[in-house]
Amino acid sequence: MMRRRFSILILAIGLGGILLTMGCNTTSKRKWLTLFFDGVPSDEPATNAIAVATTTGTNTAPTKSTTALPPPAAPLYFGHKPFTEEKCSSCHESKFAQSLKRPPPGLCFECHKDFLANTKVKHQPVESGDCKSCHDPHQSYTNKKLLLKTGKDLCFDCHDNFLETAKVKHQPADNGECLSCHNPHANDNKKLVTKSGAALCWDCHDNFMEKAKVKHQPAENGECVSCHNPHATDKKKLVVKNTPALCWDCHDNFLEKARFKHDVVEDCTTCHNPHQSAEGKLLAKNSAKLCFDCHEEKDLKAVKGHADAGDKSCITCHDPHVGADKYLLKAAAVSPPAR
Ligand code: HEC
Ligand code: HEC
Ligand code: HEC
Ligand code: HEC
Ligand code: HEC
Ligand code: HEC
Ligand code: HEC
Ligand code: HEC
Ligand code: HEC
Ligand code: HEC
Ligand code: HEC
Repeated sequence: MMRRRFSILILAIGLGGILLTMGCNTTSKRKWLTLFFDGVPSDEPATNAIAVATTTGTNTAPTKSTTALPPPAAPLYFGHKPFTEEKCSSCHESKFAQSLKRPPPGLCFECHKDFLANTKVKHQPVESGDCKSCHDPHQSYTNKKLLLKTGKDLCFDCHDNFLETAKVKHQPADNGECLSCHNPHANDNKKLVTKSGAALCWDCHDNFMEKAKVKHQPAENGECVSCHNPHATDKKKLVVKNTPALCWDCHDNFLEKARFKHDVVEDCTTCHNPHQSAEGKLLAKNSAKLCFDCHEEKDLKAVKGHADAGDKSCITCHDPHVGADKYLLKAAAVSPPAR
């Protein structure tokens, strides 16, 4: 009854305005129609379930309709149970007062499990009881879980849209699947991530660290976000900086004061894997083969200094990065000990 009275009240106050603002949008039309004519949206759980099934595409038993024509789209309606059951006074001071019995979140936790209790990290609007910044307390005509908006739109109501101008976007973030990595309310992980460290990434990526022989310490420790932005950047592979700057975040910059540099040295990842390797020093290839990626064996044979190099590894004589002379010779190779 209360709901009808409520509708009539709105009808009386707002009819003129509504008729002007209704426009031709069918969704908004249905909204108003369903408000005026009680019963248009069925609050039956069955309808709710159908609506959920249509929007999520989850496997449900085939409906009885086997005709070629698809059944008319089920009207979407998600009602908050105490509202649809007209138990207005379970939240409001009385059936006739708008003021709430008590403020959220306490109000909500009279019926819902207190998901803020015993959590270390709480999303600010949730902690402050601003549930209605994300949920309609009564009903939604479009979204599950009484949400005002879905996907990233919900989040970008308050957060800067970090996707808008970025060139490289992480697919799940771009798709608005923020909830695949974040809890919207509260949990025990920094930044409300659903899992901490690399475990979050292994939800979707193959765990390339597990069986690796040589592991780069930050990757092994799950500090993936020390090198990657989890959302979006302007750099390929979502790295926070390009090499070599990325590496200088943690390693001493050995290029800064070098007299001679190996031509390709700034491209650290041509020789090193950033995560793991089967080779020592994270080398992309065995050190006996690495150099031949770019240097021809026959050219090397012609070099005077290689006359008695034998099978010695290149890096017994050459520094792979920098040198005091243009041949990048290590001190010992410049004046080899007499044999
Ligand atoms: C689950 C709790 C809950 C139930 C049940 C509930 N309401 Fe509300 N209602 C709220 C909250 C929360 C607000 C927002 C109050 C605020 O921000 O101050 C609200 C706001 C309102 C408002 C103010 C206008 C608006 O929409 O913001 C009206 C009118 C209202 N409710 C009527 C009703 C009626 C009529 C019923 C029963 C059919 C009902 N409510 C059931 C929680 C509830
Ligand atoms: C009087 C009890 C009661 C109060 C108070 C209450 N709720 Fe609910 N709420 C329910 C019931 C019952 C359901 C349906 C639960 C279900 O279907 O599993 C529900 C469902 C919901 C859902 C949707 C869940 C879904 O799966 O679709 C949301 C969101 C929600 N409530 C938010 C709130 C918020 C926010 C408040 C406080 C403003 C609140 N509730 C207060 C009883 C209550
Ligand atoms: C920042 C937005 C945001 C705020 C603020 C917020 N919620 Fe939610 N809530 C969500 C989202 C998003 C979901 C859907 C989660 C999902 O689908 O996994 C959700 C789901 C829920 C559900 C359904 C849980 C379930 O497992 O089905 C309840 C109940 C709920 N919220 C209650 C509340 C209450 C109570 C408050 C205030 C104390 C609140 N929410 C504040 C975003 C929010
Ligand atoms: C009603 C406004 C509002 C909405 C909507 C909102 N947030 Fe927030 N969020 C905040 C505020 C305020 C903070 C705390 C200040 C800050 O860190 O910017 C915050 C902080 C965060 C943090 C950092 C938490 C921490 O402990 O450092 C994450 C992660 C986050 N929000 C994710 C989300 C996601 C994901 C959504 C969408 C599901 C969302 N937010 C929607 C207001 C909002
Ligand atoms: C692949 C997982 C993933 C997805 C998807 C994702 N995030 Fe995050 N988000 C993270 C991680 C990890 C952090 C923590 C980064 C850090 O500690 O530097 C974070 C941090 C945040 C922060 C806090 C930023 C700060 O500096 O305090 C906000 C806000 C946020 N995310 C919002 C969103 C929104 C909105 C979406 C959807 C558009 C989203 N996230 C999608 C993983 C993700
Ligand atoms: C919800 C699933 C999901 C999670 C969780 C996830 N990713 Fe991704 N990630 C993807 C998808 C999908 C792609 C695109 C796949 C492709 O291009 O092959 C991707 C691509 C990437 C790329 C390559 C981007 C490019 O431009 O080529 C990087 C780097 C990346 N993810 C890092 C991470 C890190 C670090 C984490 C953990 C913080 C993480 N991902 C967690 C789904 C996920
Ligand atoms: C030391 C910095 C660093 C750390 C730590 C790091 N990455 Fe990366 N990651 C990179 C760089 C650099 C690339 C690009 C490599 C390239 O272009 O060859 C990359 C590439 C990727 C790619 C894309 C691979 C492809 O071939 O498209 C994924 C996925 C990825 N990283 C996930 C992760 C995950 C998950 C973690 C944590 C376990 C992690 N990264 C830790 C630097 C790092
Ligand atoms: C977040 C910090 C961090 C970043 C960024 C980082 N490293 Fe490291 N790296 C370490 C730590 C810690 C170690 C282990 C301690 C050590 O040997 O100095 C290490 C070790 C190494 C090693 C030696 C591995 C071994 O087996 O001895 C190489 C090679 C290396 N890093 C290359 C790089 C390259 C190339 C980059 C840039 C793409 C880079 N690192 C970026 C932290 C980092
Ligand atoms: C041409 C191939 C090549 C390039 C390019 C390269 N490295 Fe190396 N790097 C090596 C080799 C080979 C070793 C092993 C040297 C040894 O064992 O004496 C090494 C060793 C290292 C080590 C370990 C040093 C130690 O003493 O344990 C670090 C750190 C490192 N490189 C960082 C970098 C960074 C940062 C860049 C980019 C600025 C880079 N490398 C570019 C080939 C390369
Ligand atoms: C990605 C390609 C690449 C790899 C891998 C590479 N180099 Fe080079 N190297 C070059 C280029 C390009 C030059 C400059 C042109 C030239 O002189 O051939 C150069 C120059 C040199 C020079 C100095 C020659 C001069 O005249 O200035 C030495 C010594 C050298 N490399 C040794 C090595 C050693 C040792 C390795 C293996 C650890 C190696 N290079 C791996 C591309 C590479
Ligand atoms: C026994 C020490 C020694 C070893 C081992 C060695 N080199 Fe050299 N290399 C030298 C010396 C000394 C020079 C100086 C040029 C000369 O003597 O003509 C040189 C010069 C070079 C040059 C420059 C050639 C030119 O004329 O521009 C390249 C490139 C080079 N080495 C690559 C390699 C590679 C690749 C390996 C491993 C397959 C290697 N070296 C192994 C001592 C060595």
